[in-house]
Amino acid sequence: MSLFGQLFYKRRKYYDDDFDWENYTADSYQRRLKGDVEAEYRAISTEGQLHYDAATGHVTSQGDPIHPNQQLILEAIGQLAPASVHEVGCGGGDHVANAAALFPHVGITGGDRGASQLDLALSRHPQLAGRIGLQDITMPFSHRWPAPDMVYTQAVIMHIHTAVSHFVAIANMVRMARKHVLLVENRQCHNFLRDIRALHDGGHLDWDSLHLHLFEGSGGARAILLAREALDYPVLESDAQLRAGLKPSVRRLKRADEDSARGLFGFRKV
Ligand SMILES: C[S@@+](CC[C@H](N)C(=O)[O-])C[C@H]1O[C@@H](n2cnc3c(N)ncnc32)[C@H](O)[C@@H]1O
Repeated sequence: MSLFGQLFYKRRKYYDDDFDWENYTADSYQRRLKGDVEAEYRAISTEGQLHYDAATGHVTSQGDPIHPNQQLILEAIGQLAPASVHEVGCGGGDHVANAAALFPHVGITGGDRGASQLDLALSRHPQLAGRIGLQDITMPFSHRWPAPDMVYTQAVIMHIHTAVSHFVAIANMVRMARKHVLLVENRQCHNFLRDIRALHDGGHLDWDSLHLHLFEGSGGARAILLAREALDYPVLESDAQLRAGLKPSVRRLKRADEDSARGLFGFRKV
């Protein structure tokens, strides 16, 4: 995208997604991976560099640290013990690859709407060939998508702001997952709790029962865990609880309210 195009894209008045996903890898993702992630953390772990301790539920890294969000994802997989896991918006594939290395008995797949993100994933992790594929989670549900026990995102739904797409994405993820959905996202970019409850009350979620828990990684990261059954984790009641301790971002919170307001719900349960 030209410089002018990028400036115009960032200045547009009406919200759509934060990035142009077709050009995302070239525009910023590759640079951010290097500058923001790889400068401080080991992004790619090989067999033996990560350890999951079933007694504590913690993941430790030998040598360089891993990002707290990745640590949380791996700890959730360890603790929830799914037979299969799918990452929506897997980008460069590091979480999929590291999870597959740490939990070789778990069937791990990934999907992304950006072909160049998937190319990047295959160049970083050739062993993911056949495990990752094109998937736009804001499209109508596809019966060909994987149907795993657990579905998660990391830094995906927070960037989706087009029309009611984030509602669609969450509903699709719940429909894909047999047991658990984990959202590792910026908690100010959407009113996640309010929106998930509205979807559930409005009959948009495939699960009859829904339990919302706070999942905390041992490295300090926090995530929203949607579960079909009540689990032994703190119950999440509100977005305020989820955002406790964060410095409020007026811009993000305003946009989150506008995104929530586009949701249209009717036909309440009688
Ligand atoms: C900020 S990156 C995060 C990538 C990866 N989860 C990580 O943690 O490195 C966001 C990713 O979500 C993908 N994405 C955005 N919208 C999507 C959608 N509707 N369906 C599937 N993937 C999407 C983008 O292509 C991009 O790879």
